[in-house]
Amino acid sequence: MCGIMGYAGGKRAAEIIIEGLSRQEYRGYDSAGIALRCEDEIVSAKIVGRVSELARKVKELPKKCAESTSGIGHTRWATHGGVTETNAHPHESADGSVVLVHNGIVENSREIKSRLESEGVKFITQTDTEAACQLLAALYKKTRGDALESMKTLTAELRGAFALVILFRDRPGEIWCARRGSPLVAARDGSACYCASDPTALLAYTRDLFFLEEGEMARLSPEQCEFFGFGGEKKRKKTIRLNWDSVMADKGRHDHFMRKEIGEQPDVLRLTIDTHTILAEVAMDKSLALPPGLMKRVRRVQLVACGTSNYAALVARDIMESFDNSLDVSAEIASEYRYRNVAGGDDTLAVFVSQSGETADTLAAARIARARGTHCVAVTNVRGSTLDREIDRAVLSLAGPEVGVAATKTFMGQISILAMLSMALLKDRGTLSAGDEARLIGGLRSIPALQQSIIERENEIKTLAEKYAGSGGFFFIGRRECVPLTMEGALKLKEIAYLPSEAYAAGEMKHGPIAMLDEKLTVVALVPDTDLREKTLSNVEECRARNAPILLLVSEGDEAARAHATDIFFVPRTEPELFPFVAVIPLQLFAYHVARALGRDIDMPRNLAKSVTVE
Ligand code: AGP
Repeated sequence: MCGIMGYAGGKRAAEIIIEGLSRQEYRGYDSAGIALRCEDEIVSAKIVGRVSELARKVKELPKKCAESTSGIGHTRWATHGGVTETNAHPHESADGSVVLVHNGIVENSREIKSRLESEGVKFITQTDTEAACQLLAALYKKTRGDALESMKTLTAELRGAFALVILFRDRPGEIWCARRGSPLVAARDGSACYCASDPTALLAYTRDLFFLEEGEMARLSPEQCEFFGFGGEKKRKKTIRLNWDSVMADKGRHDHFMRKEIGEQPDVLRLTIDTHTILAEVAMDKSLALPPGLMKRVRRVQLVACGTSNYAALVARDIMESFDNSLDVSAEIASEYRYRNVAGGDDTLAVFVSQSGETADTLAAARIARARGTHCVAVTNVRGSTLDREIDRAVLSLAGPEVGVAATKTFMGQISILAMLSMALLKDRGTLSAGDEARLIGGLRSIPALQQSIIERENEIKTLAEKYAGSGGFFFIGRRECVPLTMEGALKLKEIAYLPSEAYAAGEMKHGPIAMLDEKLTVVALVPDTDLREKTLSNVEECRARNAPILLLVSEGDEAARAHATDIFFVPRTEPELFPFVAVIPLQLFAYHVARALGRDIDMPRNLAKSVTVE
């Protein structure tokens, strides 16, 4: 949500900033802008639309701007004020002394604005950000150009969340930053400093990054990155090395990041298994370092997350529950968990799952659980993210950088690592037998090849997707281990194809939703060959009787199921608990090809942000 890029060095700033913004396009945005120090002035360009249009506009700036060696850029996802060029960042104070970009929400912007307006300051935008900009200019004037002092007062006065990146007109080559609530990362490479919202924007320059903590500020110049607390005290910060490179965040031969990332899932699962198993044993319990005996005494495990991460949590809940019903395992939506009076304390283990590690609701939920004395574990895909740093016991999912807004390979990373974690926890508790452990690990090891075989049948899925792209909407139905998949399949279609799609436990259809069915709504039914096959097929028949076209996903070889289907897709067989690891691939490919058939913007769907850093 909003992307920031800043550069102070010796190279052409415009190119570096535009490249950094492009790499953060996936965060979601509607407008973009840049401010460059061009000799003795700061020159801005803004557009409503894509970064590529901003790049064209930058080329039209005065010639001296092409040689500029410092500046800041921004992609805006509108919260306060419409999507207009005026509301796009950077914002400039009325006196021209401060130019600033912001990610987050300034909650007391109205108060600040009316105070400054009564002092004669003219506001020109509808944004909350302008209040921060004008206030900083006023403070800078009052302190006679003391940047640190002004920043101290600014950060004390602002309420809400912010990552601020600032140019002062009379401080050439300097960029000031401040962070509370919204992510910001800085880096140094030779004679340049950079900052960005997202590490992927900096990977082309270095993998050693300074993650700004809550309540930290920075002064970046070609010579050094300096850090301060909000009180103005100097801070020494260590870099964190990211085990990613910029090629991982390239599209390669694919038309879309999403398609590339779907294809990477067999490798994600392989890497997770190789990292966390020794032969037929899970080898994560030691690295997790939970207090000895904790798993024997906890009564409940709460898996807390949002969106796709929540569906990954549901998969893990089902795996844990299938081996141990003495433990109360629940998958919780973080935005609800944080406001409910949820049980916690020494007998509770909470696992916070977030690919970005920056989702505002998940972070807030984790802080609440910690305050209740609940034992906490984080599962995130981004080393150095806020969740990784705030929760002592953090386990990384091993998906690598994901650029497509719609999560695919990070879902695989999450369910893989959560399966390992679940096994490790149950082993500690003494409720997972060596036989089941070996069976699950053996099952997991066989899955990458099964996933690959589905990817090789992509044309089959494409044909189905093109046939059903004109459908008025979709119901995804299934039972037990398929329920999280119905949710993920429906979410993918909503996100990238913008089609109405609902997920229902198959047995729930006749309690209401079945009333909606007719020939215009397609039912996608997940029916693996388990003890629930017959029951689920009965639910499918109920839908068929209402004339809904039925797209069935069944176990390979289940030819008898054809009789229930308008169209059928055979999913390779696996251990029943592990069906989601295989069946999610055709669902992702189906959504991808429906969206393609409808000409949607697959990697950057409208209205969505990759990581939701505001509440
Ligand atoms: C998934 O396709 C979505 N982009 C979204 O639901 C996402 O999973 C959710 O916002 C949670 O993000 P997180 O994993 O980074 O916390």
